[in-house]
Amino acid sequence: MVENQDLYKKAAAEKAVEYVEDGMVLGLGSGTTVYWLLKRLGALVDQGLNIKGIPSSLRTEGWAKEFGIPLTDFSEVEQLDLAIDGADEIDPDFQLTKGGGGSLVREKLVNAHAKQVIIIADQSKMVACLGSFALPVEIVQFAWQRTVDKIEAFGAKSVLRVRDGEVFVSNNGNYILDCAFESIEDPKVLHNELKLLLGVVETGLFIDMTDRVILAGPGGAQVIN
Ligand code: 5RP
Repeated sequence: MVENQDLYKKAAAEKAVEYVEDGMVLGLGSGTTVYWLLKRLGALVDQGLNIKGIPSSLRTEGWAKEFGIPLTDFSEVEQLDLAIDGADEIDPDFQLTKGGGGSLVREKLVNAHAKQVIIIADQSKMVACLGSFALPVEIVQFAWQRTVDKIEAFGAKSVLRVRDGEVFVSNNGNYILDCAFESIEDPKVLHNELKLLLGVVETGLFIDMTDRVILAGPGGAQVIN
């Protein structure tokens, strides 16, 4: 049985497809909401829609191939027409926390090179203030313990991400720290400060990168500009 939350994710993803035009090169985000997007795009490609996509994770690449979406990469494309991605938290200024799936660096690169970014989510992802979801921060493996010390000096309690009993390694060969801050009052300042730390590759704070959010709940999918 598909749970309500999955129905909302599907509704948001299918609404976003209305912004896809023939001939577009798309940034394909990551996560279970994006799964529904890929499924719908695959069906449209079957019916003749001409698009190409750049996947932002290996999991997305696998799904895109399964659904028959033609893929390309940055050796062929300078700028994407539209990127559609999920999020872990969205604040009222459209600042985001992402990286729950561990693909934050590729997601950020894909979204940064798109003319337009649409975020799709179920309504539970919209929050008054970021911070309930632990902030993923990608760090290099070498001396990771010392990078933890520096990050914890900002008031976070951080945990090295582990999956299936193994330390999680990102698509780029790095570790992910999940950093619990009590709340993130100024996401832009925190992002800039963390980025300056030696050992930090990227943070899961996506600042000023979102043009439109599509949220879905019991009343259907709603576009917020
Ligand atoms: C992965 C991400 C995802 O977009 C985010 O975790 C949302 O995932 P889901 O759609 O499964 O809730 O940032 O790194």
